[in-house]
Amino acid sequence: MINRPRLTVVGTGYLGITQAACMASDGFEILGLDTDAAKVERLNAGEVPIFEPGLDELVQEGLSSGRLSFTTSYEQAADFGDVHFLCVGTPQRRDGHEADTSQLEACVTSLAPGLKRPCLIVGKSTVPVGTATRLASLLAQLAPVREAAEVCWNPEFLREGHGVRDTLHPDRVVVGVSSARAEATLRRVYATQIAAGIRFFVTDLATAELAKVAANAFLATKISFINAVAEVCDAAGADVMVLADILGSDPRIGGAFLRPGLGFGGGCLPKDVRAFQASAAELGAGDALRFLHEVDAINLARRTSMVNLASGALGGSVAGRSVCVLGAAFKPGSDDVRDSPALDVARILHGMGAEITVYDPAAMDNARAVCPEFSYADSVLSAAAGADIVLLLTEWPEFAGIDPEELGTVTAGQRMIDGRYALDPAAWRNAGWSYRACGIPSPKATRQLS
Ligand code: UDX
Repeated sequence: MINRPRLTVVGTGYLGITQAACMASDGFEILGLDTDAAKVERLNAGEVPIFEPGLDELVQEGLSSGRLSFTTSYEQAADFGDVHFLCVGTPQRRDGHEADTSQLEACVTSLAPGLKRPCLIVGKSTVPVGTATRLASLLAQLAPVREAAEVCWNPEFLREGHGVRDTLHPDRVVVGVSSARAEATLRRVYATQIAAGIRFFVTDLATAELAKVAANAFLATKISFINAVAEVCDAAGADVMVLADILGSDPRIGGAFLRPGLGFGGGCLPKDVRAFQASAAELGAGDALRFLHEVDAINLARRTSMVNLASGALGGSVAGRSVCVLGAAFKPGSDDVRDSPALDVARILHGMGAEITVYDPAAMDNARAVCPEFSYADSVLSAAAGADIVLLLTEWPEFAGIDPEELGTVTAGQRMIDGRYALDPAAWRNAGWSYRACGIPSPKATRQLS
């Protein structure tokens, strides 16, 4: 029996690099694999291509300890590893709502011919239920070691921007396995976390696969719930921030993921909500998750409602007007712009004829790559110079500290739309700004409380 299994990590995106570096810091020997030779070269030189707090240091440490290295060779990886983690993407398919699992199939097909001794193939990607079983039969056909190369599922719950912490100190570890041997090996892999008292769930493959999409669908539902309530607050002249606080103070509800705003984006929640519905429908249980269609629709409606607020504040048309957009990342603490609500709003406004200038503390390069049609500025003040309206669309802490008086000296108009409830409405209104956020009463509607 192997005491300290050697690990490979296939796919070096947010998930893979973080997994590889954290496991190396936990004392494992790790070989990371990616088919992108330029990326592998950069990683071997200690250059981390993503923004993730604490990750650079861990990668450097791993490389200099000799425990971490990266390759493009599946043959080398197959020969090296006792446990192979699959961390490749499962994006939404171009032609539908289903998850595209082709990268996983490509990994297994490429890895299998080199698997000559018993090993585990451990999927971490978010997948439709049934994927692990399908990959297991593919593996059994292609691997010289046949069924002794066993597929397990170990969903990853890390949040971007907190990846290192979430990987080293997860809330729970879930492993879907088909044998006692696989369970025993994964207990060795997660020995540190188990010893630290972190809950270790051993399940069948289907339960482990579902654990991840179900968790993300629930988080998305909470966000869309509070955003739907924000619309009602807006119509009623009530304050959604106070209401969210009241709801969240009930421990049965909890305040996490009850922050209203422009809704969820990123590489996970939006596509997982859709893929979960599609996969349930394939299983004949589509009706059970019909409500997720509304969760998705409420989320997307936040973006059009933001556009309407901006256009209303500018007298009904944004054409030819100068709009300052603060925030491009899908959330603060990340440089990821995949399905970013902020960029989506900016794109719609641009399509309506507005001139857009964007500032984001971390995601400028990524934003520029996908939206070259916008202007970009290197600070809040330069982005806002001459703007008719300012939209705060990602709640970076830096934005909460903006001085309304100072900003007012550079803009053409003093109109602020706070899409993330990041500012103090009274402070902005007192400084002469027209401040608007969905579900925050306007000064006239606010009843004087004594
Ligand atoms: C999510 C899950 O949290 C994580 O467990 C899973 O592994 C991957 O997907 P991530 O995409 O990194 O993580 O971001 P998260 O912090 O969950 O935020 C998702 C989106 O919801 C962001 O756009 C964020 O701005 C939004 N959000 C979050 C809200 O609008 N309100 C909230 O209260 C919380």
